[in-house]
Amino acid sequence: MGDSTRTTSGGIESVAETVARFRERFLEKISAGSFELPVLPEAASRVMQATADENCDARKLAEMIQRDASLAGHVLRIANSALYAPTTAIVSLQQAVSRLGMKKIKEIALLIATQTKVFKVPGYDAQVRAIFKHSIAAAAYAQEIARRRRWNVEDAFLCGLLHDAGKPVLWQLLADVQRELKLGVEPSLVEDVLDSMHAGVGAQLVESWKLPERLAETIAHHHRPQEASNVAQAAMMIQFADDLAHFAAGPREVTEEQLRAHPMIEPLNVYRDELDALLAKKQAIATAAETLL
Ligand SMILES: [Fe+2]
Ligand SMILES: [Fe+2]
Repeated sequence: MGDSTRTTSGGIESVAETVARFRERFLEKISAGSFELPVLPEAASRVMQATADENCDARKLAEMIQRDASLAGHVLRIANSALYAPTTAIVSLQQAVSRLGMKKIKEIALLIATQTKVFKVPGYDAQVRAIFKHSIAAAAYAQEIARRRRWNVEDAFLCGLLHDAGKPVLWQLLADVQRELKLGVEPSLVEDVLDSMHAGVGAQLVESWKLPERLAETIAHHHRPQEASNVAQAAMMIQFADDLAHFAAGPREVTEEQLRAHPMIEPLNVYRDELDALLAKKQAIATAAETLL
């Protein structure tokens, strides 16, 4: 964008005025909820329902996934990835289901849905891929923190995976508003809007997918855990996992020193040996996130 732009009414406006006009429209759309929430693909939503049903057995679930060739391929790819690191290769869906269990299959179905439906914004591929990689790392770390506390590991994984899912939704809206106003605005000029609004938008996405309310609440508060009365522990865990994920896989630089002095260490009761173990997972988690891209 140059120093000035011609408006649709023919007048000339400064860059600052253009950005202000853009921000106003962008914020207006966010607060009115005028953005598109990606839908959970049919196959993923069937898997979610089936895994919630006590009567569903492994064979039925494998058959259901098999019917969707693309989902089946992705499930096998992810089941064999560094994230689950099977000791011997998983070659069939039946094997994937029986060795990983229903909960992991549900995680994988959501991971695929997220990767293929949410983290896809034409024109912003690099930014969105970076957030997806960060999200996998956050999911892996959250799971690790939860496991050591005997908290719900599945919830932790899903919250980590989806904590920043509001960002790609807002990137898409950013692209749409640019088109609508026929403006090209440097994304960095509105990045603060994404930073401040993505948690709420992510929570709306999770609600629209009919995931448990506690997940939406945790995501809504992941940058302000002190305000999350019902899910404070989970929100603190995600905030810590978020920074650990930046440390392992970017995109923001977080140092070991910063993590050792992290404000969540005390409330989460993270002892030194646990922190050492989490930090030592840096490379493994970075690799797991990288190989899923
Ligand atoms: Fe965030
Ligand atoms: Fe994050």
